[in-house]
Amino acid sequence: MNKTGLYLGVLFLCSAAGFLLAHEGHHPEEVLKGKQKLRMDKAIKEIGVDYQKNIEPIFKVSCFDCHSSTTRYPWYHVVPGVRGLLDDDVSEAREHIEMSDGFPFKGHHTPVQQLTGVAYDIDKGKMPPLKYRVMHWKSGLTEKQKQDVEDWTERSLDKLKEIK
Ligand code: HEC
Repeated sequence: MNKTGLYLGVLFLCSAAGFLLAHEGHHPEEVLKGKQKLRMDKAIKEIGVDYQKNIEPIFKVSCFDCHSSTTRYPWYHVVPGVRGLLDDDVSEAREHIEMSDGFPFKGHHTPVQQLTGVAYDIDKGKMPPLKYRVMHWKSGLTEKQKQDVEDWTERSLDKLKEIK
């Protein structure tokens, strides 16, 4: 082999090694991303099952009138003016969080934002809105129900935080 041949040979081997290394280096990262996504999907599914079992029954009574497609309108919905007010409330509520199909809810928030938002609103007693609680006195959450909702949001957020 002459010098040029040797030179080209070395060059070829180097670029081949470089090529392999580059791909070696790339590969695990993509596998990790795929795995991370799988773990995330799995966690969200588990949170949904947990929600359906422990939280949805509470939300059906206290939240679905506004945050789902199964609104049970009260009798005064037939009163002009009141109807407009309620319809606005319901469409706004559903735009933010739509609970008809379980967790994750539909809307413009991520699951983490939904969990944080629910935890905040329940803790502060913001939901269901006061004017609605006044009309539907059974819609307010008991202390035990509030605790259940807060526990659910906490263990769900913990689960999602663990995913690396
Ligand atoms: C009488 C109708 C009504 C009921 C019942 C109701 N909500 Fe709401 N909800 C609204 C409206 C309207 C909004 C949007 C405006 C606002 O934030 O006040 C909203 C917003 C929210 C938000 C914030 C979304 C955002 O984008 O910031 C959360 C979280 C929420 N509701 C959770 C609940 C939960 C949980 C319940 C039941 C415990 C509930 N709501 C019951 C009307 C309702």
